[in-house]
Amino acid sequence: MRVGILTGGGDCPGLNAVIRGIVRKAERDYGDEVIGFLDGYQGLLDNRSMPLDVEACRGLLPRGGTILGTTRMTPYMVDDGVERVKATMAATGVEALIVIGGEGTLSCASRLNDDGVPVVGVPKTIDNDIGGTEMTFGFDTAVQIATDAIDRLHTTAESHNRVMVVEVMGRHVGHIATWAGIAGGATVTLVPEEPFDIQAVCESLLRRHHRGRFASIVVVAEGAVPAPGTIEIPEPSVDEYGHQRLGGIVNVVAKEIEARTGFETRVTVLGHVQRGGTPTAFDRVLSTWYGVAAMEAAHDRDFGTMVALRSGEVVRASLAESIAELKYTHPDLLDAMRVFFS
Ligand code: F6P
Repeated sequence: MRVGILTGGGDCPGLNAVIRGIVRKAERDYGDEVIGFLDGYQGLLDNRSMPLDVEACRGLLPRGGTILGTTRMTPYMVDDGVERVKATMAATGVEALIVIGGEGTLSCASRLNDDGVPVVGVPKTIDNDIGGTEMTFGFDTAVQIATDAIDRLHTTAESHNRVMVVEVMGRHVGHIATWAGIAGGATVTLVPEEPFDIQAVCESLLRRHHRGRFASIVVVAEGAVPAPGTIEIPEPSVDEYGHQRLGGIVNVVAKEIEARTGFETRVTVLGHVQRGGTPTAFDRVLSTWYGVAAMEAAHDRDFGTMVALRSGEVVRASLAESIAELKYTHPDLLDAMRVFFS
């Protein structure tokens, strides 16, 4: 059979490793052909693709980004989108589509599947917020990058007796902030799941400093929200796909900390550094496993499914159910870390 793949949404370390896993399984075990649509759903709409074989995937395992390119375009953003997708599939002879993406890309994949386009999904995002799986690839890499950065900030914070306020990604959930906050020994971590009271944050810093510790790290998820009636944060702008551009809350938080505690603060926004570069060993393995498993599902024509990590095993889950709810940071983990963050 001929299988088409695409990568959609924000890029993520491990995308190329998934592509390599799909191609290897298709060619070596099934004798199936794979083509890659370019720039996410845009390439599927425009019938722009590249052939993929084992040779074309040489060197892809450790390479960040996606060789196929990616956008946030979806077929539902144009009137005749689904017809164009079906026309491309007919013209290219593609019998199954493997869609590698996050919440937005996979929601669209599920809708396409309902509209008669045979789809298998692969969950991607550094945010780790896809409900149907215990882990998305890219998350481990982002946490490691953020932790390395926090480790570096500790030494300069101590030298200057400052509070370093670090913004990490995580638009709806605080997985990266929580994990990097714990791993990096942060004093306070602010996540979207729990609206924060800036006064309580400052009191926590003051208590710590009065106990004789003079440098602190505050980790802020980009999607963190102040408790109602506390401080205001600027409204985010929206990109051409209606996607909110987050980032910058850290400036408000740092300014308030400095004003309320008198401690000198500095801001670091890690931004897209967290999405760039080579995946960790864990993400390389998970991406490869996902790729192989997705190709197996496509070859079995088990459409409307998504590969997922559950209890240490990669399984097939219902795509529609997997994207129905976001996966938030486990409340027990948030509770457990409070002992360090007071
Ligand atoms: O969804 C993953 C993510 O990394 C978010 O954490 C972040 O808000 C967003 O992508 C940024 O996207 P862009 O690349 O469009 O700036």
